[in-house]
Amino acid sequence: MLKIGIITASDKGAKGEREDLSAGVIKEAVKDLGQVIAYAVVPDEQELLQAKMIEFADELQVNLIFTTGGTGFAPRDVTPEATMAVIDRFVPGIGEVMRLESLKVTPKAMLSRAIAGIRNKTLIINLPGSPKAVKECLQAIKPALPHGMDILLGK
Ligand code: MTE
Repeated sequence: MLKIGIITASDKGAKGEREDLSAGVIKEAVKDLGQVIAYAVVPDEQELLQAKMIEFADELQVNLIFTTGGTGFAPRDVTPEATMAVIDRFVPGIGEVMRLESLKVTPKAMLSRAIAGIRNKTLIINLPGSPKAVKECLQAIKPALPHGMDILLGK
């Protein structure tokens, strides 16, 4: 079973002003992939997001990190930038498929700047913020994740 981490990027969530429904959607959707062992709600600050991703990957040895939120055009949306700063290898296909499949649902899918990449043995995947978008994006990428993780972990 994989060790999974969830990081919600949300100013309002971090202040306790918004219930984090998206993390619950991720938790439910990834049940069959592994166990969620780490969860954090972090304000939309690049340094804080980077630090949390590094903590989950390097200290907690999480295999798969899902972020949710902060992928759009708002000035404080910096999750892709934080992710790019901590990965060693970029995985463009995951973002490409999320946008391709999501475009069948809404043209606004092209507004998500979500990326994915690998830091050592950890795959980090950005998901958009809304529970609906999270569900749709996970549905699109989930089928390829077990094989990708097997290869990453040398199984
Ligand atoms: N992707 C899917 N599958 N479904 C959606 O409803 N919403 C879009 C997009 N991606 C959406 C989606 C919208 S409206 C925005 S603004 C961007 O994701 C960025 O969202 P974020 O800033 O919450 O990360």
